Amino acid sequence: MKKYITTPIYYINGAPHIGHAYTTILGDVLKKFETMRGTEVFYTTGTDEHGQKNQSSQQESGLELKDFLKMRSDNFRNLFDKMDIDYDFFVRTSTDEHKAVVTDALNYIFNKGLVKKKSYEGLYCEGCEQFKKPSDLDEHGNCPDHQKAPKLITEENYFFPLEEHRQWLIDYINTHPDWIKPARYAKEVLGMLKEPLDDLCISRPKSRVWLGVELPFDKDFVTYIWFDALINYISSIGWKSDGDNTAFNALWEHSTHLLAKDILKTHAVYWPIMLKALGINPPEHLIVHGYWLGEGGIKMSKSLGNVVDPYEVMDLMGIEPLRFYLCNAMSLTNDSQISVDLLKQGYKVLANNIGNLQMRVLKMIAKSTGGKVPANVSLAAEDKALLEGIANTFDRIYKYGDSSLETVSELSNEILKAGGDVNAYFAANEPWVLAKDESKRQRYEAVIYTTLDALRLIAAAAYPFMPVISGKILASLGCSAKPSAAFKPCDLPEGGQTVVGAPLFPFLG
Ligand code: MSP
Repeated sequence: MKKYITTPIYYINGAPHIGHAYTTILGDVLKKFETMRGTEVFYTTGTDEHGQKNQSSQQESGLELKDFLKMRSDNFRNLFDKMDIDYDFFVRTSTDEHKAVVTDALNYIFNKGLVKKKSYEGLYCEGCEQFKKPSDLDEHGNCPDHQKAPKLITEENYFFPLEEHRQWLIDYINTHPDWIKPARYAKEVLGMLKEPLDDLCISRPKSRVWLGVELPFDKDFVTYIWFDALINYISSIGWKSDGDNTAFNALWEHSTHLLAKDILKTHAVYWPIMLKALGINPPEHLIVHGYWLGEGGIKMSKSLGNVVDPYEVMDLMGIEPLRFYLCNAMSLTNDSQISVDLLKQGYKVLANNIGNLQMRVLKMIAKSTGGKVPANVSLAAEDKALLEGIANTFDRIYKYGDSSLETVSELSNEILKAGGDVNAYFAANEPWVLAKDESKRQRYEAVIYTTLDALRLIAAAAYPFMPVISGKILASLGCSAKPSAAFKPCDLPEGGQTVVGAPLFPFLG
């Protein structure tokens, strides 16, 4: 079985920020988690290059369209490359390959009679690229996400009716409790489905928006950006309305879309209905996360100066501690706060936990045994209990964890907890005192072995978050094996050579 994991494709009208970095990191962490337990993953991310916002941005830039799109898309790709994201495919909606699939899908639903043309008057929010109902607006009549009043627009457009599928979608959600995770977002979608669904406007007149995929059945229109963008999830893995979809189907059966709550409706209402019209099942899972807000719970904005720049924080603390922090600090059910100070605190937690433990134990045995892992140790019940407890926890998460945000969050918490427990064990057993007394040699060696073996388990478990650091810890323990999801206690080869290297989490200053 091979899994398919996707991120949203990002608008290129602005520079990538920490929120975009986060979802793409989360996908990479899930890919590594799955790979470690033996499941292959096809992972995609990319850029959404059509629509009014990108069009306005291109016009302001004064650049040729092709150059503008490439430059802005590369801003995202370069960030993801710098973050060592192991994506298998980078989607760009401006490519001919993607556009051909959008055209194919449009023709398919048009020929099935599922599209109708009508005149429509509505309130249009350019930020969302969506028509709004008065009930979607705040008390000042503004779009709550963009703090701007939508414009009243009257246009002829093509529509795709949704209402006739509403009950099917409600039933689908109720019979697939695992479809949308965490469950609070499934509830939110059921709330959206209490009211009849308006027809989805799937076109924009070229007189207003020209940056898009031309409608195959009317050259005066381009396709609505969301209809175009959502199709990326199937265009990236080769869907065709009339081709051999065997490879597509195999991947699609195990597909997971990652997204934040801002785009829940498009993914959990429009998308499954679009797929149904195309004769495709909904993706296996939608994994939804909250929003990163600035410190104090305020939305990040340039004018407030509280925007966290992914390049800046990556340079400050390194990509791997940043990955760990983001996955650990995102709350499962709410928004989370982020700032450079909070990130520094998170870095210190890691340094004091895993970093400190590794340095202390390695420096100690470098002195006492020339760095050799003690052999023929006889572990006390306390030592065995510590190692078995840690191994069992990681074993359970890797065996039964469901490749969701909950799993990633639990894993990061358990890593910190294990590190805390081993630090406490080390301090309580005072190996530096035992080392001075030859009659306590056996006990000294047991404590050292236990600490080293625990560190091995922690390093292996941390691989999806911190692959390079995990490898460095294992190498420093004289363990060359690739981390695997088999968490067995007392597996550290006896007699191996340990090495005190540079600190894993150098002082930030
Ligand atoms: N182009 C659409 C998505 C189309 S997918 C078929 C879009 N683009 S976006 O650039 O606005 O990206 C939104 C996504 O970026 C969120 O769903 C989330 O994955 C990520 N984030 C952007 N800002 C974020 C935060 N402040 N916090 C958390 N994630 C956020 O919508």
